[in-house]
Amino acid sequence: MSIRMDLKLATEDRHEAVDRAFSGFALATRSGYEAFLLAHAAALFPLEERLEALGIANWLTDWPERRRRDALAADLAQLGLSRPAPLAVPAIDIKGLAGAAYVLEGSRLGAKFLARHVLAAEDRSLHAATQYLTHHAELPLWPRFVDKLDQLPPDSVPDLRTAALQVFDVFADAAQRYRPAVIEPTLA
Ligand code: HEM
Repeated sequence: MSIRMDLKLATEDRHEAVDRAFSGFALATRSGYEAFLLAHAAALFPLEERLEALGIANWLTDWPERRRRDALAADLAQLGLSRPAPLAVPAIDIKGLAGAAYVLEGSRLGAKFLARHVLAAEDRSLHAATQYLTHHAELPLWPRFVDKLDQLPPDSVPDLRTAALQVFDVFADAAQRYRPAVIEPTLA
């Protein structure tokens, strides 16, 4: 089995959980989309910084093209939001680096799909705040990443799995913290 398939299977439950959690954010509404961007920023900023501190660009040489926090910062600014407090990031170590990157890079796949909801919003002011969700969608970043991932030695897999699960957990935590309040219907 390829390393990518291994990671996909090992994290399937976590993906389903974050997918479900973020599906509760109404992306075509201003409050729902703002909460979504804040949640992603609280997770993505410290995670990208951690990966950079571990030297991600030495392994993934096109990393400067992949990092998305400037795009996300621009979206927040566009909506007049300040950068949220970063979430605590687990101690991902260098052996797990590519597993952590797998989760961040894979999240682009869902992002393309989510961008369509925002771009269909009646509130057109949201359309200009989609740099993060559409980031380099024109480039084959995902297949290029998978090629690179699958060249790693098979004995690295346990550490990659651990780091991938840790990164999913940061996003799950973010979804939980920024989850929009459920508005109970008022009884007449
Ligand atoms: C509502 C939120 C989300 C939806 C609807 C969603 C949807 C999807 C879809 C449709 C794919 C497969 C695309 C394809 O095979 O072409 C995918 C892949 C993936 N997503 Fe998500 N996603 C969401 C959130 C996230 C988040 C928050 C993360 C992690 C931070 C994430 C990580 C991944 C990963 C790692 C893959 C690649 C799986 C593989 O190896 O094929 N997703 N997502």
